[in-house]
Amino acid sequence: MKTALITGANKGIGFETARQLLERNFKVILTARNEKRGLQAVDKLNKYGSNIEFLLLDVEDEESIKNAAGDFNKLEIKLDVIINNAGILLDNESINTTNYEIIFKTLKINTIGPILVIQNFLPYLNDYGRIINVSSGLGLFSEMSDFAPVYSISKAALNAVTKQFSFSLAEKNISINSVSPGWVKTDMGGPNAVRPVEKVQKQLSG
Ligand SMILES: NC(=O)c1ccc[n+]([C@@H]2O[C@H](COP(=O)([O-])OP(=O)(O)OC[C@H]3O[C@@H](n4cnc5c(N)ncnc54)[C@H](OP(=O)(O)O)[C@@H]3O)[C@@H](O)[C@H]2O)c1
Repeated sequence: MKTALITGANKGIGFETARQLLERNFKVILTARNEKRGLQAVDKLNKYGSNIEFLLLDVEDEESIKNAAGDFNKLEIKLDVIINNAGILLDNESINTTNYEIIFKTLKINTIGPILVIQNFLPYLNDYGRIINVSSGLGLFSEMSDFAPVYSISKAALNAVTKQFSFSLAEKNISINSVSPGWVKTDMGGPNAVRPVEKVQKQLSG
């Protein structure tokens, strides 16, 4: 049985990824920044498989990431997959005026958080394991527009994070990829998004 850890898995793409991995007989370590929302998600997922554990993990908070890694250590298991899924999109105005708090928070959650998650969980990742960073088409220079500029910057930087770890992880044969799920109907994607969340796995595994 393979084990996957997912950040920000209490709803949206992270939740659906957890559900589909349970259906494929993975053990899932569902993490969320809010205990109540995380445990509610675990309750909903129990019908898809009982191999699920909850860890409190706020990717914005280094202490929380370290505590989650410590709690994972107590489970005495190893990981095969880490999915850096947690993300926010807060900015809806020109880069000329976006305020510091939005810039800093977005980079902390979308870019720095994944680095710290990888660093702290790497000791528990099997050789030949996989890391998936959930990025966005908006992080590609070829697709970037002036929509959500700070979010776009954070995802372009996340792609650079992926590239940098690909060098450092090569000798352990750990693969790392950025994936773009497309425009998905979630709280972030909104109701007009073209892809239902159930279809996202096809994109992530494609
Ligand atoms: N939906 C799209 O069209 C789309 C397109 C391209 C890329 N993506 C990417 O896909 C990923 C998932 O997005 P989504 O559409 O599923 O969004 P979503 O429905 O808004 O879910 C985002 C998840 O991230 C969690 N999160 C936010 N900040 C966190 C933090 N500091 N620590 C831990 N968890 C945190 C949220 O938890 P709370 O419930 O506690 O807020 C929630 O579980 C994101 O990285 C996003 O950038 C989405």
